[in-house]
Amino acid sequence: MELFSPALLSQLNPSAKHLSELIQSQKAVIGVVGLGYVGLPIALEFAKKGYQVIGMDVFESKVEMLNRGENFIEDLDDGEIAEVVKSGHLKATASFAPLNQADVLYICVPTPFDANKDPDLSYIKSAGKGLSSVLRQGQLVIMKSTTFPGTTESYLVPILEESGLKGGKDFYVAFSPERVDPGNTTWHTGNTPIVTGGITEDSSLLASLANNMIIEQVYMVSSPKVAELEKLLENIFRSVNIALVNELAMLCERMGGIDVWEVIEAAATKPFGYMKFTPGAGVGGHCIPVDPYYLSWLAREHDFETRFITLAANTNESMPYHVAQLVVNAIARLPISIFDAKVLIVGASFKKNVKDIRNSTSEAVILRLMEQGISEIDITDPWVSIFPAAGREFPSVSLTAESIAAYDCVVLVTDHDEFDIPFIVDHARWVIDTRNMTKDIRAGRDNITVLGVTAPKKMIPVVH
Ligand SMILES: NC(=O)c1ccc[n+]([C@@H]2O[C@H](COP(=O)([O-])OP(=O)(O)OC[C@H]3O[C@@H](n4cnc5c(N)ncnc54)[C@H](O)[C@@H]3O)[C@@H](O)[C@H]2O)c1
Repeated sequence: MELFSPALLSQLNPSAKHLSELIQSQKAVIGVVGLGYVGLPIALEFAKKGYQVIGMDVFESKVEMLNRGENFIEDLDDGEIAEVVKSGHLKATASFAPLNQADVLYICVPTPFDANKDPDLSYIKSAGKGLSSVLRQGQLVIMKSTTFPGTTESYLVPILEESGLKGGKDFYVAFSPERVDPGNTTWHTGNTPIVTGGITEDSSLLASLANNMIIEQVYMVSSPKVAELEKLLENIFRSVNIALVNELAMLCERMGGIDVWEVIEAAATKPFGYMKFTPGAGVGGHCIPVDPYYLSWLAREHDFETRFITLAANTNESMPYHVAQLVVNAIARLPISIFDAKVLIVGASFKKNVKDIRNSTSEAVILRLMEQGISEIDITDPWVSIFPAAGREFPSVSLTAESIAAYDCVVLVTDHDEFDIPFIVDHARWVIDTRNMTKDIRAGRDNITVLGVTAPKKMIPVVH
């Protein structure tokens, strides 16, 4: 691995020099396929640097919005989007044809799993097909979508080669995973280091150079496969560590008398060798719940079971069941039938202070509650006006003293800063807190169940 610096460009073959000069002089045209959470920020960064950017998306209403100068990604500045569209630096299209003009092409399409939790590469394949129909000599293709090792070389390049051009010779290809963290105000596109691995040395150098135009630090690795697996390691690391604290939370509940959140705070005082993760109702978004399965699928192809990784994913997936059980236990203390219970889910987006609802754990909790016979369920979320989940549409209800008091149980799932927790707890019959949001106010209250905390029980002595 090596930190990219422009001095390394002296190693480029003569045939690659022209593209490197275009990129360095801002004359390269940048194409971005897939204008979502990953693609639009990249398009904006290049446009702000003065590049001509062609943004391509199959979702026509996004294209129309963008061409009107309207932003649809929450972390991006509306004014900046309007400005680059007005100045003509960013144009959007629903067709692949204009991408023939691009010198550098970023692929930022979804990589979900299918109903069997196997990788769904259909978006990558269709983006590759679209590009192969317009590919020309000398272009650089940089794949950003998270995927299993080998996708770039074994799936994408052969599709691009349907153009009749040869990867690594006629066009350049690299994999460079995305690290955008929606809602993070400290680490953004420019100051978050990234990793890049090309199918050839020239591909690596050119892709690193292009990335370096909008990102301060770019690390070159020896192949796309290393970059692909590095990205999965990042996300699986989170999955495994979240599973660890989720398991600890359930153990603390079983033992009684130990607050898992206090344990985690205490462990986090260690300045080395420990990183803080917190329990919750599950894992959401389209990275952490998905990526472990990309690797376990590939491992099975090699007659290998990723038992540890799969166990972690299973543990996280069990959390909505556990939270639903906490709700059922709470309702059992009330003089009502489970079938008449009214439950309010607080938070619909998959993490705090964002509006992204993909694979939200709130939906998983709703499904598990429905299985228990609870049908009167509402949600409230200042970031989400309507939550499509479990085959229904849940409009966000407003939180008033009367509306809160109308529920038998209020479940705190997403810890958005906007929630007035003392107000909710003051008016709720019962609260299930899955994110330790009641930490400062729960002492002396008897209407709160906290994930990972139960009242001390009589200890049963262990007989040796
Ligand atoms: N969102 C994140 O925080 C994040 C972080 C790191 C990595 N990633 C990875 O980046 C990739 C993209 O994620 P995202 O969050 O930007 O997804 P997204 O759903 O927000 O955006 C993807 C866009 O691609 C478009 N699209 C789908 N098929 C297309 C095609 N064939 N041609 C052109 N456009 C097409 C969709 O309409 C959509 O606008 C995924 O692999 C994801 O795992 C995402």
